[in-house]
Amino acid sequence: MAEMITLPTVDHGEFKHSRNDRWWVRPLLQAVAITGFIFYSLWVIFLESDNYKVEGTHYISPFYSPDLELGFWPIEGFSPALLLIWIPLGFRYTCYYARKVYHRAFLADPPACAVSELRKVNHKYKGENKLVFIVSNLHRYFFYLAFVLMIVHIIDFFLAMKFEDGIGFGLGTLLLGFDALFLALYVLSCHSCKHVVGGGLDCFSCNTAVNARYKSWKFVKKLNENHHKFFWLSLLSLIVADIYIKLLINDVISLEFDRWI
Ligand code: FES
Repeated sequence: MAEMITLPTVDHGEFKHSRNDRWWVRPLLQAVAITGFIFYSLWVIFLESDNYKVEGTHYISPFYSPDLELGFWPIEGFSPALLLIWIPLGFRYTCYYARKVYHRAFLADPPACAVSELRKVNHKYKGENKLVFIVSNLHRYFFYLAFVLMIVHIIDFFLAMKFEDGIGFGLGTLLLGFDALFLALYVLSCHSCKHVVGGGLDCFSCNTAVNARYKSWKFVKKLNENHHKFFWLSLLSLIVADIYIKLLINDVISLEFDRWI
């Protein structure tokens, strides 16, 4: 019978652990990144609601997509992004990977593998059945909405090739393309997508339609293995595209520089 190895437990203040690496670096960086993203989003939504479209192009900040300035947005001076932001927010908040991140980075519950929680030793996990964690059970519905949003962002990419003098391609088109690409990879690699595509089947080879679902499931499964990367890349590409659009609006970068073709 194999001998059980017990590692020595180290008590660094509140956290007991048996690790000798810098286990706290990752949750710390994640907490900084998520906090930065939240503050940036609040600034964009509440204080930059007049700065999201570049004249002479179809460039639009991904925070404000789809463009709701179609005459029915009723409240003067109130950000139209507010009507949409709950969709990506809800999708990310309920994301399985994001849950791991914020439970580790903000709640230290636990902060890393093989590190103790801050809560009492005998604390019992009671499931996600109380506010605010109960919202996590809505993830599959947020997935359907995020899927629609993904299509809108892909359309935005194609629209970004339309200029006043015809079809073209600029740095803005490329950045909006990255935003659409990484959002699509993030949405399509979602666990709920995997279930929609290949879940609820007893047999993968029974007929052609089921076999097609099996092949799609294998593809989504491959994407799903990199879901955590797409989570961060989609956040990064969203912010980069938004910053670039603000630089164009404020004439820090000219449209001549932007336009390649
Ligand atoms: S978006 Fe992360 S699991 Fe669905």
